[in-house]
Amino acid sequence: MSHLLHLDSSARSASFSRELSARFAGVWRAAHPGAGYTYRDVAAEPVPPIGQAWTEICDALLAGEITDPAGYASVVKTPEQREAWAVIEPLLAELLAADVVLIGAPMYNFSIPASLKLWIDQVTFPKMSLAGKAFVVAGARGGTYLPGTPREPVDHHERYLRDFFAGHYDVHDVTFLHAELTNALVDPRLSPRDADRAASREKALLVAETLASTGTVA
Ligand SMILES: Cc1cc2nc3c(=O)[nH]c(=O)nc-3n(C[C@H](O)[C@H](O)[C@H](O)COP(=O)(O)O)c2cc1C
Repeated sequence: MSHLLHLDSSARSASFSRELSARFAGVWRAAHPGAGYTYRDVAAEPVPPIGQAWTEICDALLAGEITDPAGYASVVKTPEQREAWAVIEPLLAELLAADVVLIGAPMYNFSIPASLKLWIDQVTFPKMSLAGKAFVVAGARGGTYLPGTPREPVDHHERYLRDFFAGHYDVHDVTFLHAELTNALVDPRLSPRDADRAASREKALLVAETLASTGTVA
């Protein structure tokens, strides 16, 4: 049975990335009756930053050359490490159980929200392969960073996630949907681009629906 893990990380509720991820999830779930579904809002319920005990667990995994998540618990020894593992374990279990990982990810300061980075730090261990899973990122940006635009070189949002999923998870099946120019609604200097903002949102919603319903991401 297929399982969808759906994360959101926008700090606000009237959020384009939430709208996009919700559209994908709704269509995907309708197309996969009986499939599993887990939702986690890392902005509303932030996971804590990793601490010393987390780094001890990570170092022990490296030293023991343990790369299979089934073996991770074997290096958890001290009370502090057990406390850290109690945070890691459910987050990791959700990630490992997923066939499709859907991440609502706004651009903050050219990159991703700190809340999403905290989740990534908690669940990522050395040489952990998630090959075979499909990732979908529902992004939103105040400006535009598409290929050929002046700000393309400072897109550390899509580029970071793409490089990270490939380099750390061996996941290359990643689709990015972006609602761009969302600041046209609030920034008078961008208001002349409001039609482009609306078109970008419509296109991203359509791609989300198509992707979720056609089985391209199953
Ligand atoms: C803390 C913060 C930092 C932001 N940094 C950028 C940025 O670097 N580039 C940009 O284009 N938009 C930036 N924005 C605008 C957001 O990307 C935009 O509002 C987007 O729609 C947020 O996603 P959401 O609608 O899902 O909340 C920033 C917004 C916030 C709150």
